[in-house]
Amino acid sequence: MIDKKILKELKKLKKEKNAVILAHIYQLPEIQDIADFIGDSLDLSKKATQINADVIVFCGVHFMAETAAILNPNKKILIPDIHAGCPMAEMITLKKLKKIKQQNEKSLVVSYINTSASIKSESDICCTSANAIDIISNIIQFNKEIIFIPDRNLGNYVQKTCKKKMLIWNGFCPTHNNFILPDHVVLAKNKFPKAEILVHPECRYEVIALANHVMSTGGMCKYIKTCNKKEFIIGTETGILYKLRKDNPTKSFYPLSPLAICPNMKKITLSKVLDTLNNMKNIVKVPENIRRKAYLPIIKMLKPNWQQHLSK
Ligand code: 13P
Ligand code: SF4
Repeated sequence: MIDKKILKELKKLKKEKNAVILAHIYQLPEIQDIADFIGDSLDLSKKATQINADVIVFCGVHFMAETAAILNPNKKILIPDIHAGCPMAEMITLKKLKKIKQQNEKSLVVSYINTSASIKSESDICCTSANAIDIISNIIQFNKEIIFIPDRNLGNYVQKTCKKKMLIWNGFCPTHNNFILPDHVVLAKNKFPKAEILVHPECRYEVIALANHVMSTGGMCKYIKTCNKKEFIIGTETGILYKLRKDNPTKSFYPLSPLAICPNMKKITLSKVLDTLNNMKNIVKVPENIRRKAYLPIIKMLKPNWQQHLSK
């Protein structure tokens, strides 16, 4: 239970600064409880374009706040901890991307949203785990080679599902790749034989192959609400369990691996949110020349008729 004094202070600050709080599904319970909107990367990107406020406090990791900044040049985007980065996003550099583009001049670059603004500025289209299959299936019609960056697990899953060979970068999410393993699936299946297993596509393919469904975090939340099953084993960062249990009190949820914790997501705390907003600290800024270029692949992903913007 959050202290009433803190809630009062937050309400006052939000009103004073005309601010809203967006939070990713992996955030700590105390952050989810104070957020105006909770979502996955795709929902949060969409929401960032629909907000009528001067300030967005982005409770998530840096690339997410940066995406909001790219989409909202006239708003102030604050991140409560400037060091909340995503190691996967840092596994590709601009220099390396430019080199691979030079070597594959005619290819389209599809970048997972877990990338920096400068990487997006050199990409043709972005995707998230919620729409990657849809985006790649649509690109197939252009008969182009695809460079998929930076997540090898998502890339591999998409490649297999869409039956489209791609050049896949060798990045990964340490939380999903290293802490959710096939043995966890075997153990969980034995312990909870009636439960459905849902996993995130950032998991290794050996894990994906053993699951009932592969979904983004937002996809899991939506599926579980409408599904008549009662028990679920959840293969993603454990922060999602708080939301799932809150939204579905009659259903049971078990983490596929209790070790799947993203230390960066957990850097955001209530006191940091208050401090950031009070002092208007940690403003996420993207240089205008990069922002303009990075805007295009994001907006292509968000537009329903994005295919027509892809010609190269
Ligand atoms: P979702 O888009 O499924 O929320 O996953 C994003 C992510 O990688 C957070 O780690
Ligand atoms: Fe990055 Fe993985 Fe953390 Fe998501 S869970 S922010 S991909 S390190």
